[in-house]
Amino acid sequence: MRKEGKASEWAKWLLVLLLLATRAGAAQMAPTLLPLPATARYGQGRLPLKAALKPLLPATTDPITRAAVARTLARLSPAKAAGAATLQIRYGRVGRPELFDEERYSLRVTLMGVSIDAPTSLGVLRALATLEQLPRADKKGRYLPEVDVQDQPRFAWRGLSLDAARHFLPVAVIKRNLDAMAAVKLNVLHWHLTDDQGFRVESKVFPRLHTVGSINGLFYSQAEVREVLAYAAARGIRVVPEFDVPSHTTSWIVAYPRLASNDSTYAPYRLWRTTNVAIDPSRETTYTFLDSLFTEMTTLFPDPYFHVGGDENDGRNWRRTPRIVAWAKTQHLTRADSLTLDKHRVQTYFNRRVLALLQKRGKTMIGWDEILGPDLPKEAVIQSWRGKKGLNEAAHLGHPALLSNGYYLDLNFSAASAYSADPLPPDTPLTPAEQALVLGGEAAMWTEFADSVVVESRIWPRAGAVAERLWSTRAATQSVPDMYRRLGLLSAQLETLGLRHRRAPELLLKQLAGSSSVGPLRSLAEVLEPVKEYKRHFQGYAYTTDSRLNRLVDAAPAESEVARRFAALVDSVVLPPRPGTLGFLPPAPAQVAALRAEAIGWQANDILLQPLLATNPSLAEYAPLSTRLAAVAGVVLERLTQLQAGQAASVAWLAHARATLEAAQAPAGQAELAVVKAARKLAGL
Ligand code: ACM
Repeated sequence: MRKEGKASEWAKWLLVLLLLATRAGAAQMAPTLLPLPATARYGQGRLPLKAALKPLLPATTDPITRAAVARTLARLSPAKAAGAATLQIRYGRVGRPELFDEERYSLRVTLMGVSIDAPTSLGVLRALATLEQLPRADKKGRYLPEVDVQDQPRFAWRGLSLDAARHFLPVAVIKRNLDAMAAVKLNVLHWHLTDDQGFRVESKVFPRLHTVGSINGLFYSQAEVREVLAYAAARGIRVVPEFDVPSHTTSWIVAYPRLASNDSTYAPYRLWRTTNVAIDPSRETTYTFLDSLFTEMTTLFPDPYFHVGGDENDGRNWRRTPRIVAWAKTQHLTRADSLTLDKHRVQTYFNRRVLALLQKRGKTMIGWDEILGPDLPKEAVIQSWRGKKGLNEAAHLGHPALLSNGYYLDLNFSAASAYSADPLPPDTPLTPAEQALVLGGEAAMWTEFADSVVVESRIWPRAGAVAERLWSTRAATQSVPDMYRRLGLLSAQLETLGLRHRRAPELLLKQLAGSSSVGPLRSLAEVLEPVKEYKRHFQGYAYTTDSRLNRLVDAAPAESEVARRFAALVDSVVLPPRPGTLGFLPPAPAQVAALRAEAIGWQANDILLQPLLATNPSLAEYAPLSTRLAAVAGVVLERLTQLQAGQAASVAWLAHARATLEAAQAPAGQAELAVVKAARKLAGL
């Protein structure tokens, strides 16, 4: 029963896609690559993948490149025996990602085989990632299309920031994310290792940090850190650790109370909201502590960059402590009145001290945009998260800068929204010299609402949109629908690499459905999204570090694919078609039929699902969403009937539709229906 439902669903979308492809007249050569390369010229030839390719590597090939080639060959073809076709690799020298060595490559597929040429081994790694996305399949089996790719990145720094402090992310999860990063040519793992709730890396110098300072006692041993670093290096990925100071440090103070600003003792912090707890900037012992810790950690993490956080400190801990205020006065770190502690000046003082400690170890300091201030030395790299302004201000003041604003995956915005954020848009106010300071950007995944089970589904495939924005030229990446088409291919590829972004939510749904069929619950989950931004903190459910993330909201996709396709169908019904472009959609009847089938499906689903929602206490909170989805479906069906009959909507009907759809927008269980916006559009509201 469920299988049939799925099959007809697929048939419906396949029909729409086929129509689209035929109209576009370019189905054969629609690119499969994400990120798109600088140039790719496809020919008519095909290189079958029935037999394995025969590797031709220079004898001097380094071990990382050798292992990468072996991985790619195994992924391209299960066949053990090589045929006549070859995979020829040539590169100039071993590339060092931490020195921003070149990642440029050329990749040619001919009937004779594949050849990769690159100035450095990093280019070879990127070329192999491209090669793994090239295979297509038809009746005769899998093959590589004939193609000539010339490629290089737009930005040198293309990161993913992972918060392993709020919810600990085991090494296996980090490795799977590194595999996915390599697939989309992301080259920096920014590892957020410490926060109020946990200090997640073993310190041999201050062992109470990871033993007392980590809720649940979960942390990475130094051996595990080295294992991750080696795994990343084997994929041409740098690892930049973040030790967030002076705020976000409750875990440090729990372990070592002498770091506290206000001379009180702290219990482990089990909530998620920002604490504004900060370590003491006035005592020399704070800096000797940091000096010893950073000596240990800068040795453990060899990357030349070292992230010191610096975010979200409103200074209340400092202003309320008389001895710190007195100290600030002696240091002239006060406001114009010479009496009130100036938080920005104190934090800049702190940053300068920390910067000196890092410079002594040959490290470049990075911090979130709060660390920016007129007295901050120019070497410090600024990571902009609170707005685009921070990036431009940083570059304007002469700092290297990274963009993360717009790339916060945990806010549950769409891939299209991330795709539209560009570190250097056409209207950038930066001069060419300032633009050169913009190193790139980072997608960011904070884990208040993502544990090690669901985190991959919160990152992938949407991080692919950020990866493409940072790798590809603007000219090559104008089409959002095409990005989504390729993001779908990427999602399937990541599944074959072992990522759990699809499997984990599915398992969660099965657990929730228990002995019932999972189909109806899945159909509801597929049109839900978690509430956006940080609203999950404020909707009547008090989350702590002990809250299990195993409710329906946790199985709902960050961006509903069903809702996106529904919205595209609505667009094709309500907008005049645009002939001769990729956006051209078939005439209304097929799409009206598809919309009608969807809406009827939602109504039927509500009837099937309500008994489960009513009897399973952990699902009861979602019953209103299923009811409202059926009501939305009613509005959709009525409107389609009007459209087909060429009738205008009556005032009374519009009032009814408006009330229904407004009610349907209300979240439940921190999830919301993702189809309401498109339904409003269809209804003409
Ligand atoms: C941040 O999101 N607090 C950097």
